[in-house]
Amino acid sequence: MANFERVCALNELKEKQGRRVYVNDVDVAIFLVDGEVYAVNNVCPHQHAAMIYDGFVEDKKVACPIHGWEFDLKTGKLGGERRGLDCYEVKIENGDVFVKANQKTLNW
Ligand code: FES
Repeated sequence: MANFERVCALNELKEKQGRRVYVNDVDVAIFLVDGEVYAVNNVCPHQHAAMIYDGFVEDKKVACPIHGWEFDLKTGKLGGERRGLDCYEVKIENGDVFVKANQKTLNW
């Protein structure tokens, strides 16, 4: 569990509803989708809005609430393999959610 930080209890997450957390000063959006937890950078590469956590989730993708760019929650990619959001490792242990995000890496 080196470098993983506890962000919340698993039962605090609601299916398809994002949550904003900070891990080592990295702004992270986490989502529970079909029982899996995903963690991506919360800052949209389009106009740098820190709103990904508030995005609409469908088909394991999250749409930025500002202009609707869609990112794959598993890979962070925009459609067509374009780079999008950084993704972070997630671990669940004893009912708690841990995320590993060591530094802010911007992808634009
Ligand atoms: S700021 Fe996210 S799509 Fe424009």
